[in-house]
Amino acid sequence: MKLDGKVAVVVGGGRNVGEGISHLFTKEGAKISIFDADEGRASSVTNALKKEGGQAMYTIGDVTKPADVSAMIDATVKAFGHVDILCNCAAISDRQNLFDLADEEWEKVLSVTLSGSYYCLRYAAIQMRKQGTGGAIVNFSSGSAFRGSALRISYDAAKGGIVAMTRSAAVQLTPYNIRVNAIAPGMVGSQVGGMIPPNERQFHNLLGKMTMPSDMAKVVLFLVSDDSGHIIGQTINVDAGGSA
Ligand SMILES: NC(=O)c1ccc[n+]([C@@H]2O[C@H](COP(=O)([O-])OP(=O)(O)OC[C@H]3O[C@@H](n4cnc5c(N)ncnc54)[C@H](O)[C@@H]3O)[C@@H](O)[C@H]2O)c1
Repeated sequence: MKLDGKVAVVVGGGRNVGEGISHLFTKEGAKISIFDADEGRASSVTNALKKEGGQAMYTIGDVTKPADVSAMIDATVKAFGHVDILCNCAAISDRQNLFDLADEEWEKVLSVTLSGSYYCLRYAAIQMRKQGTGGAIVNFSSGSAFRGSALRISYDAAKGGIVAMTRSAAVQLTPYNIRVNAIAPGMVGSQVGGMIPPNERQFHNLLGKMTMPSDMAKVVLFLVSDDSGHIIGQTINVDAGGSA
């Protein structure tokens, strides 16, 4: 098992990508701490992981509130002793052009998708530095960071910010043996926010099939394992060739 004895915090673990990561990491021996705003989702995934024989817990909170994030890290350490891995999956998206997008919506999407990822990264890194045993952090950007959209702008700006944040965090955390990378998915599973299920999404990639959360989880596993030890500060496109 590749993650035996490791403790993984999965932010946004209540559905889709975070849920897929939680299942694969459980099979690989990790203890899972899910952090999500939605209690129904978080508790249902946690129960499923326990039924599979895993050790799992959840904390409910909002990634935009540093106090919630800090309390979640403390609760994880209290339950499992340490934090070795952070998968930073929570995000929300706008779905309008800039003429129709309310200013408050611009701020809200940036707040959850960029600042929320920052707070989770920061408080996990503080804990990892305290432990002195290193760690691995995977942020989630998006193909949207690299391509313009007619019906999104705040989400795309946030995802571009995650690419830059990942680089600077890598520069600042590598001295503590904490590796930071990001993934830029194409389309994976259901839509962010969940309004369109996987089988109804129109996708364009070279494989001709939708990337599913279990496919994404394998790449995240690689990025948190020692096999990727020399990949640092990068944002990896995982889009079944869509960007090619
Ligand atoms: N699904 C895709 O096609 C796709 C494409 C490109 C990038 N991504 C990125 O991959 C990551 C995972 O995407 P997904 O499709 O699994 O997202 P999702 O919307 O299915 O799940 C996100 C989870 O985050 C939680 N969440 C939302 N706001 C929160 C908050 N303020 N505090 C705490 N939890 C909160 C939600 O309750 C949900 O369980 C995201 O960063 C997303 O932007 C996804």
